[in-house]
Amino acid sequence: MKEIISIDVKPRTADFSKCKTDLLAIGLFSDPDGLDRLTRELDNKLDGAIERLIKSGDFKAKEGANAIVYGNDRIAAKRVLLIGLGEKKKATLDTVRKAAANAAKKAVGMKIRTVGLALHKAFGGRFDLSAMGRACAEGAYLGSYRYDEFVTDSENGRLDSLKVEVVDSDSAKTKKLSAGLASGIAIGKAQSYARTLANRPANVISPSKLASAAKELARGNKGLSCTVFDEKQMAAKGMGGVLAVGSGSQNKPRFIVLKYKPTGKTVKNLSVALVGKAITFDSGGLSIKPAEKMDEMKLDKTGGITVLSTMKAVAELKLPLNVLGIVPSAENLPSGSSYRPGDIITTFSGKTVEVQNTDAEGRMILCDGLNYAVKQNCDVIIDIATLTGACRVALGKYMAGLMGNDENLIKQLQKAAEQSGEKVWPMPSGDEYAEEMKSKIADLKNIGSKLGGACTAAAFLRQFVGDAKWAHLDIAGVESFEKPTEFTAEGSSGFGVRLLTTYLMNLVD
Ligand code: BES
Ligand code: MN
Ligand code: ZN
Repeated sequence: MKEIISIDVKPRTADFSKCKTDLLAIGLFSDPDGLDRLTRELDNKLDGAIERLIKSGDFKAKEGANAIVYGNDRIAAKRVLLIGLGEKKKATLDTVRKAAANAAKKAVGMKIRTVGLALHKAFGGRFDLSAMGRACAEGAYLGSYRYDEFVTDSENGRLDSLKVEVVDSDSAKTKKLSAGLASGIAIGKAQSYARTLANRPANVISPSKLASAAKELARGNKGLSCTVFDEKQMAAKGMGGVLAVGSGSQNKPRFIVLKYKPTGKTVKNLSVALVGKAITFDSGGLSIKPAEKMDEMKLDKTGGITVLSTMKAVAELKLPLNVLGIVPSAENLPSGSSYRPGDIITTFSGKTVEVQNTDAEGRMILCDGLNYAVKQNCDVIIDIATLTGACRVALGKYMAGLMGNDENLIKQLQKAAEQSGEKVWPMPSGDEYAEEMKSKIADLKNIGSKLGGACTAAAFLRQFVGDAKWAHLDIAGVESFEKPTEFTAEGSSGFGVRLLTTYLMNLVD
């Protein structure tokens, strides 16, 4: 798949004032004790223009703010872009990432070709330079991204490429920054890939189209191989959950498996499975959803796409670890052939489920995906899904719900969340919740009571993971940005690609 905007991120050693570029981005905190060295140096050459701008009160360096100062013949950059970093004591690596995103978004909006990022300078020695390089690259992708592949109106025209340079005057420092760029680029690219696939509507991406995309990924990346089961093969295996959910649509379900095997040795004798929900459209089925905002349910394939995209990043980074990506995919529609409330489904695990609501379809496909991972003897299973409106009500649009059966795995994911800026919050899924999922006429039912919906859903899944260490990410709420922000465009967020890739990188670090 062609990138919507092709981004080229490189390191560059140059004197800041001699750095020829369309836009040189520098960071400023809102609570500084005077200008830092780099800003002072540029300000001197700009005859105090930065200082005057700040004194005017027009730029307070709040997080997300930016302001342009135009260059003169004493600096080589055409423009200096001041990026607000907010309060110094609150700054994290995500501040760097967002600042880079802010600069990249501004550049694309202004149809600028080259951007120099000197954002790391404001942070002094606070963070490792390589980690800052990585955050800059991730941010460049995040901020420059937009989804306009079906817009034919040329008024919306933009340049189709952007050159980003991470600049320092000291070559030893550029070298360190550069060490983090490669992973930032792989992750950034994978996340943009995820956003584009997820933003595509259900008439463009069906389960079989998603399977084709997975096959294309495997063709393009060493170490990746892809197997797809169609509806007949699923029937032969007894994958009753995916088949039931997919039965109402002409677009038949698929079970997608992407396997990553490093070409060299693995450093850990551990196999990790990532399982993602890929409902290409969730109308609710016969338990149909209200019309309002039903269009947003094209994003119900996000978890599955996150898994595919993480596999892409893992292959590009050549991580020395076996990873299995498992993506059950179906379209949930009402029709004469749909599964019905009241149906009893025999899932891949052999456990039976009484369907009380066809809109609780995510767990019906995930249980087969989880059981597939168990049958492949995976030691660690992490699933990711836009699973419940209840999680969105509980946590809003800022954090994903994190459940699981292993403290250490939860801690590892919390750490990865801190590093990646994709936040998670722990939630329960134990016995009390599992109790609600018992059926009188089958082993389980697919909905619990009105309360604690995110937890009962997780408690349902928990019963399909056998003895594996398991974690569940409910990303309903964080899978999209409702409105454009200073950092990025609206639509799919690609949530989870940074988080899961960071988790896997930490395992082999
Ligand atoms: N895909 C939805 C969850 C969802 C809702 C994601 C809003 C993003 C935004 C899921 O399949 C669903 O419909 N869940 C039901 C479960 C209920 C029937 C137990 C829900 O949350 O209402
Ligand atoms: Mn649903
Ligand atoms: Zn759904």
